[in-house]
Amino acid sequence: MVSYKELGLVNTREGFKKAMDGGYAIPAFNFNNMEQLQAIVAACVETRSPVILQVSSGARKYANQTLLRYMAQGAVEYAKELGLNIPITLHLDHGDSFELCKSCIDMGFSSVMIDGSHLSYDENVALTKKVVEYARQYDVTVEGELGVLAGVEDEVSAEHHTYTRPEEVEDFVGKTGVDSLAISIGTSHGANKFKPEQCTRNAQGVLVPPPLRFDILDEIMKKIPGFPIVLHGSSSVPQQYVEIINSNGGTLKDAIGIPEEELRRAATSSVCKINIDSDGRLAMTAKVREVFAKSPAEFDPRKYLGPARDELKALYKHKTINVLGSANRV
Ligand code: G3H
Ligand code: 13P
Ligand code: ZN
Repeated sequence: MVSYKELGLVNTREGFKKAMDGGYAIPAFNFNNMEQLQAIVAACVETRSPVILQVSSGARKYANQTLLRYMAQGAVEYAKELGLNIPITLHLDHGDSFELCKSCIDMGFSSVMIDGSHLSYDENVALTKKVVEYARQYDVTVEGELGVLAGVEDEVSAEHHTYTRPEEVEDFVGKTGVDSLAISIGTSHGANKFKPEQCTRNAQGVLVPPPLRFDILDEIMKKIPGFPIVLHGSSSVPQQYVEIINSNGGTLKDAIGIPEEELRRAATSSVCKINIDSDGRLAMTAKVREVFAKSPAEFDPRKYLGPARDELKALYKHKTINVLGSANRV
């Protein structure tokens, strides 16, 4: 058993309280390799932002659970070496079973998500409550989910979304004892969040996706005032990356994300955590493709992963400063 406290990590409780009071959201950036971790830590130290390092079950299999634990501990030490001891949370993203959540808690995670959103309401309550009861013993915080996001990721997929039902949230939070609640108000996983036919075009001919359902968020906030809300599927899919990828051999089609203004607005509400994975993937892929197109003889991974890491860091700084408002909060 490894306690996250020994690793220098923190759970989400205090950070969410500060985010709620301060009207910003803490970034939850997914990672599975060293360059991503370096970019996240450097960006958050330089912008003085708290951060949630997020690991999916697929990422955990990819990177190895033991290595991950040392990487998270390394992140804490790296931040100090860069000059600022920012609060760092190690969080399981989309845990799908009690056993997985328990294993992560036992291996040093300070926060876990149990995603029972595909189950019936009663099964979701029962599973989430079981995870909360285990996590409580170790002061690990738990994120639950109500409502289903559309979109596809490796191990997270749903054809259609079901918006969160505001009438269920109070009962769910009360019965399960979760510390935060992920909701579905129109965000979606992956780089193809909307079909072009769902969008309208603005005066410049740019596709504008359907707006998030802030009315549902408002209803939820009325039912559970001051309770931390989480938004998944919150990449904005920067079109400059899509263009770089496609003009250097890529074939991304109809890649559309959540407009940054909507995320900025959400961050000022009870939304305390905003999940971003796909934008990081796009930034890295754009740079790697660009390097290979310009220098096809290059075969030193540092020569393409280095620029990818620099781009990722710039992207994350932009997120904390201009989108989530979490910069200068440490
Ligand atoms: O929400 C899902 C995350 O983006 C993780 O994706 O399962 O491909 O690691 P992954
Ligand atoms: P994106 O695919 O929009 O980056 O969402 C990531 C996410 O929700 C991770 O849980
Ligand atoms: Zn997610």
